[in-house]
Amino acid sequence: MIASRLVVDRDFVVADLDRRVFGTFVEHMGRCVYTGIYEPNHPDADSRGYRKDVMELTRELGPTIVRYPGGNFLSGYNWEDGVGPKEQRPKRLDLAWYSVETNQFGTNEFIEWCRALDIEPMYGVNLGTRGPDEARHFVEYCNHPGGTALSDLRREHGHEKPHDIKFWCLGNEMDGPWQIGRKTADEYGRIALETAKLMRSVDPTIQLAACGSSTHEMATYGAWEDRVLEHCFEQVDFISLHTYFENRRDSTAEFFGNIEVMDLFIKEIVAVADSVAARKHSSKRIMLSFDEWNVWYKARSINDLRKPGWPTAPRLIEEVYNTEDALVVGGALITMMNNADRVKTACLAQLVNVIGPIMTEPGGAAWRQTIFYPFSQASKFGHGRVLKSVIESPTYEAETFPEIAYLCAAVVDDPATGITTIFALNRHLTDEMDLNIELRGLGTERTLDQALELHHTNMKAVNTREAPLTVAPAVNSRVSVEGEKITARLKPGSWNVIVTTARERG
Ligand code: AHR
Repeated sequence: MIASRLVVDRDFVVADLDRRVFGTFVEHMGRCVYTGIYEPNHPDADSRGYRKDVMELTRELGPTIVRYPGGNFLSGYNWEDGVGPKEQRPKRLDLAWYSVETNQFGTNEFIEWCRALDIEPMYGVNLGTRGPDEARHFVEYCNHPGGTALSDLRREHGHEKPHDIKFWCLGNEMDGPWQIGRKTADEYGRIALETAKLMRSVDPTIQLAACGSSTHEMATYGAWEDRVLEHCFEQVDFISLHTYFENRRDSTAEFFGNIEVMDLFIKEIVAVADSVAARKHSSKRIMLSFDEWNVWYKARSINDLRKPGWPTAPRLIEEVYNTEDALVVGGALITMMNNADRVKTACLAQLVNVIGPIMTEPGGAAWRQTIFYPFSQASKFGHGRVLKSVIESPTYEAETFPEIAYLCAAVVDDPATGITTIFALNRHLTDEMDLNIELRGLGTERTLDQALELHHTNMKAVNTREAPLTVAPAVNSRVSVEGEKITARLKPGSWNVIVTTARERG
């Protein structure tokens, strides 16, 4: 048994939690769109071709914002191909994923899907093969009320009202050698600036994210952000971060170190962005959009990335997630919540089939992967402001990170409802954790609403179509509340959510 302590105080606030950190990502890649969210011939499809089973699971997962249409796909995409009568839409070679794109699903279909689920859309503009001109036309098509050729075209396409898309990504991973139309930091910084100016002229209410490094490991990491922001600082609101966690040493303890590296990544990019601000004598603060993150290492061979013969909707990177992956995803969510002052949007990549929390079979079932649960619980209970967690916990040493506390936790408090939620990971793999929590100044009369845990003795256990509930949340009955104090016993290698309400706030 190990003992840990977690203290928060109502006056020590990190920031209000921007609910857009619970975002996901839909790319035209593999089976994310086709046979994922859209499958007109599926027995459970609605009249528009959306799979209702996937919509139901998406609702339960609870994403607040979804990025679209890519990803690497974006850098070769013509948005005009995906609007208008479906029978007139062209089939194109998608050079990012060596597939044929039928364009049967496009901008308006995605917007309707989002609106049906009350999800905010996040769109990207192609800065790989295209540039400012197409980007401003795209914003005009989507967001201008009417009376111009492009806005009237949208109305002809059945959308009288503007889509009012607020969040736009200026390209995707433009530093990556794999990217269609890859650019140097100076080339990209310039085009991002000019594109941003035009997009904002069309709609001054939008928010814009410039591409940061594709991974924390890029050779140009840090220098890229510095150069790009040097060019476009005044015109953008966000810099993006992408990361895919790998279990390179096949060691759960080492794998957990990724959570700390993510925290470091965030803090380093904040430092770079703020140093650009300092150089420019500006009080403006660039926010962070962690718009691609997940575990991804098992389905990453060339055979997972590309299938021969230019197929449509092939099975690409259909990673099957296990227990330890879910724990790392939970830790990543904790990290983003604890950095709520600067991380304002984030997207779990992706939503369905392609490294997705939801899996489907064409014409068949849909089910939840292990990583579904920490995400859905964080989105469901993560309301309000994040309090600064003071943690006392034994630590261990790993190669991925020098000092890792066994306890990883975030506390979110909603003054409007009196609900305080604790998210906690016990990273000890053999010992239970005796966790003592103090919620200072948040009310002395509390009720315990829920205590849930995600745990499996086998770190490699997975959910499948045949056994979809192998790894699923259960009630933790070893949690008690007394005044401002909560005591909890956490299983080794477990993700935990404790929800408690104050009857009265002092
Ligand atoms: O999410 C899969 C791919 O990973 C995305 O298309 C790309 O942006 C990233 O490299």
